[in-house]
Amino acid sequence: MASNSPPFPATADFDGDRLVALGGCAVDDLAADFGTPLWVMDEADLRARMRAYREALGDGDVVYAAKACSVVAVLQLALAEGLAVDVASAGELAAAQAAGASPQRLVLHGNNKSAAELRAAADGAVGRTVVDDLGELAALAELGEQRVAAGRQPGAPASGQAGGPAGTPIDVWLRLTPGVAAGHHEAVRTGTDEQKFGLSIRGGLARQAVDTAVAAPGLALRGLHCHVGSGVVDPAAFEPAVDAMVGMLAEVRDRHGIELAELDLGGGLGVAEGWGDPEPSIAAYGKALRAAVEAAGAAHGISPPRLAVEPGRSLVGPSGVTLYAVGSVKQIPEVGTYVAVDGGMSDNPRYALYRAAHPFTLAGRSAAKPAGEPVSVVGKHCEAGDVLAHHVALSGLPQSGGLLAAGAAGAYTQSMASTYNRVPRPAMVLVADGDARLVLRRETLDDLLRHDVAL
Ligand SMILES: Cc1ncc(COP(=O)(O)O)c(C=O)c1O
Repeated sequence: MASNSPPFPATADFDGDRLVALGGCAVDDLAADFGTPLWVMDEADLRARMRAYREALGDGDVVYAAKACSVVAVLQLALAEGLAVDVASAGELAAAQAAGASPQRLVLHGNNKSAAELRAAADGAVGRTVVDDLGELAALAELGEQRVAAGRQPGAPASGQAGGPAGTPIDVWLRLTPGVAAGHHEAVRTGTDEQKFGLSIRGGLARQAVDTAVAAPGLALRGLHCHVGSGVVDPAAFEPAVDAMVGMLAEVRDRHGIELAELDLGGGLGVAEGWGDPEPSIAAYGKALRAAVEAAGAAHGISPPRLAVEPGRSLVGPSGVTLYAVGSVKQIPEVGTYVAVDGGMSDNPRYALYRAAHPFTLAGRSAAKPAGEPVSVVGKHCEAGDVLAHHVALSGLPQSGGLLAAGAAGAYTQSMASTYNRVPRPAMVLVADGDARLVLRRETLDDLLRHDVAL
C-alpha cells in the first residue's frame, strides 16, 4: 500500500503549483528571515513518521539512523518519540549524547571503527556495538575481557577501569551480509558479498565471527544485524535477507545451543522522489517485515527474535524541504535552460553522487515567466557536475530572486553537506504551527576560516 500525495511534508500549503507555506510559515518569510539555501524540517510531519514507525514495529525497536540527519534537535525529537539512535562515528555519537541519549538507546556502527570509537564502546557509551569484521571482533573481545576482569578486582568500583559496567561483557551484534542486493543505486547496495560492509554468510566469515564471539568471555553476543540497501520501495525485496538472517539464527542455535534474541534488519525503505510517485507505506513495510520474520522463524523452527529496524531516509527525508533562491537563468539555444540556485552540490550532493531525484517546485509569491521546456536545476559550484536535477518541469520559469523548493530533502543533505568553494553550509529551521525555530546556524565566513593556520 502506498499513497500518492505530493512528495512534500503533510503541512505543505500549495497555491496552485506553488509551495507557499510549510508548518504554517510562509516560505517567503522563512527565506527573508533565515536566508537561503535553507533546510526546513517540518516537525509535525517528522513526529508523525516516527510514530508510524513505532506503531509499525509493535514491540520491536526503531533505531533512527543518525547518518541521515544528525542535527541535535532532530535527534532530540527522535528520542522524545521513543526511538533509539544508530551512530556510525564518534561525531554522530557526540551529537546523540548532546541530544541526551542514554547509552541503552545507542547502537554503534562503522566498518572501520577507530581505537577511540572501540574504547567508547568498551566504556559503556552505547548499548549495542555492531561488529563489522574479524579484526574488530578480536580488539573488542580484548577490551571486553579487561572490563570483565576489572569487576573481579577486590573493591572494584561499579564502573570498570574503562568506565563501562565493571565485570560485564560488551553487548554486541554481528553485521552480516546475507548476499542480497537491494536499493536504488550500486553505491547504496550493502547486502551483497562484494562490498565493504559486514561479514559474509556465504564466504564463511559470519560463522567464524559467531564462533569467536560465543567463545569470547569479554563479549555477549545479543543478536545479528544486516542492512541490505537504501531506497527500497517494495518491502518484498527484504524477504530473502530475512530468510538468510533467520536461517543464520537457526544455525547459531544448532551449533552453539544459543537462541539469539535480537535481529536488526537495518534501514532502507525508500521515499517518493517525484510528483506522482507512490509514497511507500511505513505500516505496510512493518507488517511485511514482521510477517517475513514470523514465516522464516516457522520455516527454520525458531521463535521469532525481537526485531529492530534502522530507518534513515524514510524517517526524515520526506519531512525536509530545501528552499533556494534563483540566480542566473541561462537559456542556451538548442541545448536548454539552466536555472542556477544559490546552493548546489554542497548542500545536496545526492544527484551528483548517485542521481538521486527530488521533486522541485516554484515557491513563494515572486513572479515567474511562462514555462517552456523542462529545465536543469544547477548550483553555484565550479563543477559541471554540480547539478541538482535534470528535466524538471516547472509551472513557470523562475526569475532571479524567486524561490525554488526541493522536496524529500530531509535526509542525507545536512549530513552529507560540504563547504566546497568555501560556500558556507545552510541553516536549518524546524517549523510547526506557524513558528520557525532555528536548529542549525548558517555557517559564516569566519566559521569557514576557523581551522586555517596562516603562514
Ligand atoms: C547500517 C545502516 N543502517 C541504516 C541505514 C539507513 O538507511 P536508509 O536511510 O536507507 O533507511 C544505513 C544507511 O546507509 C546503514 O548503513
